[in-house]
Amino acid sequence: MSTGFPDLDAFLPRLEAIPTLGADAFEAEHTAILGRKSGALTAALKTVATLPVEERKRYGAALNQLKGRFESAFAARTAALEEERRRRESAGVDLTMPGRRRWTGAEHPVTRVVDEIVDIFRELGFAVATGPEVETEWYNFLALNFPADHPAMDMHDTLYLDAPPAADEPGGKLLLRTHTSPVQIRVMQAAPPPVRVVMPGMVYRNDAIDASHLPAFSQIEGLAVDEGISFVDLKATLNHFAHRFFSPATTTRFRPSFFPFTEPSAEMDVECQLCHGSGCPACKGTGWMEILGCGMVHEAVLENVNLDPERYTGWAFGMGPHRIALLRYGVRDIRLLLGGDMRFLEAVGRPGRTGGADALGMTLSPEPRP
Ligand code: DAH
Repeated sequence: MSTGFPDLDAFLPRLEAIPTLGADAFEAEHTAILGRKSGALTAALKTVATLPVEERKRYGAALNQLKGRFESAFAARTAALEEERRRRESAGVDLTMPGRRRWTGAEHPVTRVVDEIVDIFRELGFAVATGPEVETEWYNFLALNFPADHPAMDMHDTLYLDAPPAADEPGGKLLLRTHTSPVQIRVMQAAPPPVRVVMPGMVYRNDAIDASHLPAFSQIEGLAVDEGISFVDLKATLNHFAHRFFSPATTTRFRPSFFPFTEPSAEMDVECQLCHGSGCPACKGTGWMEILGCGMVHEAVLENVNLDPERYTGWAFGMGPHRIALLRYGVRDIRLLLGGDMRFLEAVGRPGRTGGADALGMTLSPEPRP
């Protein structure tokens, strides 16, 4: 509906647009049209007094009418916006409520342990290798200098496969490997020294499941072979590892041991990570925790891969990340590492959070460090 004045008609499209304005645009438009200082209609009203009497009447009336139309359009829109807001709220959508945090998962403690161990050795220049979980008797035992039928193999009872080995694989029946040590053989066959390599993987034993045994668990093997390598290198490297992995103040000790593929052989203990040496249930009162077996690579093993023991020497170790995860996080029962209890995994699966698992009685409480 025309006002009869072109300058006032120019406002009509804005009048028609008012029912479509959102809350913010509405406020701005209200001020732009009717604002007391800068409103466009307010400004037009101020010019009325300057007009000749005749025109003043007609123009003033048209302007007042237009202002009235704007006012009722604004009032209608205010009511509509208020109604929309009420409908949103009663639909249960409260836009002011804080968002719900999503649980993003945690790294499994064993995965973390494996990654950290491998990273420490990588920094020292070790490469990473893997080998097959189905091995031949030759790789798993004979090449590693286990004499046939030696009692040492009793600890390595495993599952044998019916299938015959591939024609180009040396020796004996197929089995699930009982340790990662056969990967040492494959690595030494693949390339001449110098060799510095760590070999993570799963291994299998005919063990019943209990709080400290699993029939399938992880190991990380280590091997260094070169000219002039001695037991000093072994001790220095493994001590460095213990200080990086546990803490710089962690004490270690080496005890004589026996493995067919190393001579001399040792087991390495670190100070108990829970009681720090004073003795607690986790370390059976000894103050020490065994973390790995190690030794100088046996001459017979070097000969089995056609390396000259007069020229080359080497050292090796094998450790179990499942076990080490128990020691490090003070977990009572190895079976917890296989369960899907999210409270447990969340508590030990990332740094600096043990409260949850402690509260569940799943871990042994660490004693404060003296
Ligand atoms: N293979 C051994 C086991 O599973 C662990 C081991 C001990 C590996 C001494 C080594 C080593 O490389 O030198 O019981």
